[in-house]
Amino acid sequence: MKTILITGAGTGLGKELALAYAQKGNHIILVGRKQSKLNEVRRMIEKTNGSAVTAPCDITDANMVKQRLSHLNETEKIDQVINNAGVGYFGPLQEISAEQVSRMIDTNVKGTIYVTKAILPVFLERNSGKIMNIISTAGLRGKVHETAYCASKFAIRGFTEALVKELENTSITVSGVYMGGMDTPFWDKNNHVADRSRLKSAKEVALEILARENELEVIIER
Ligand SMILES: NC(=O)c1ccc[n+]([C@@H]2O[C@H](COP(=O)([O-])OP(=O)(O)OC[C@H]3O[C@@H](n4cnc5c(N)ncnc54)[C@H](OP(=O)(O)O)[C@@H]3O)[C@@H](O)[C@H]2O)c1
Repeated sequence: MKTILITGAGTGLGKELALAYAQKGNHIILVGRKQSKLNEVRRMIEKTNGSAVTAPCDITDANMVKQRLSHLNETEKIDQVINNAGVGYFGPLQEISAEQVSRMIDTNVKGTIYVTKAILPVFLERNSGKIMNIISTAGLRGKVHETAYCASKFAIRGFTEALVKELENTSITVSGVYMGGMDTPFWDKNNHVADRSRLKSAKEVALEILARENELEVIIER
């Protein structure tokens, strides 16, 4: 049994990853901002005799991440971190506000870096651990009306690839997952995707990630 911390675990892909990893007998630490959503997932896991705890945290807040992880590292032995939390704003660049750009960079890039930085000392001390970054095919190629989102996902791909090199003489593994569209609450507040029914379900993608969890680069096209 591993202890796996998943960010953005209250909805969408993070929730499905939490359910799938819990079903395999792992203990899950559910991270996100909305406690009610995290509680729902914890209850779903417990109903099937799985094990999970909630750890509400806004990953854009460097101090909160540091404190939360420092506390968790005293109470839990975290084996794996899945950096999944992310936000997206889509449309012509001139219609994307400065605040939306900041939110994407703060969450998708800085949030992932803060969480990774907070867990890394423990992983280095043990010389073991696994970091999985949920990116997107928007981190592999540019897409129309996804300019700033692509910028954030290319950035986190750069971070991931650089960290792989930085840790190559350790037993810590770092992987990047690049998937196409999924039907999740991610699309609730915009009409960037015309027909959501054509997208993969988050559960389908979560199960594929689990099946390929030892690959360092996982590409899941639509
Ligand atoms: N859906 C797609 O088509 C698609 C395709 C490729 C890649 N992705 C990526 O997949 C990941 C998961 O997205 P999803 O589709 O499952 O969307 P989602 O359902 O909207 O999930 C995103 C999660 O991130 C959490 N989150 C957002 N800001 C946060 C913050 N500051 N601190 C902590 N948690 C935060 C949200 O929870 P709270 O609001 O409670 O904090 C939410 O549970 C994202 O990185 C996204 O970019 C999505």
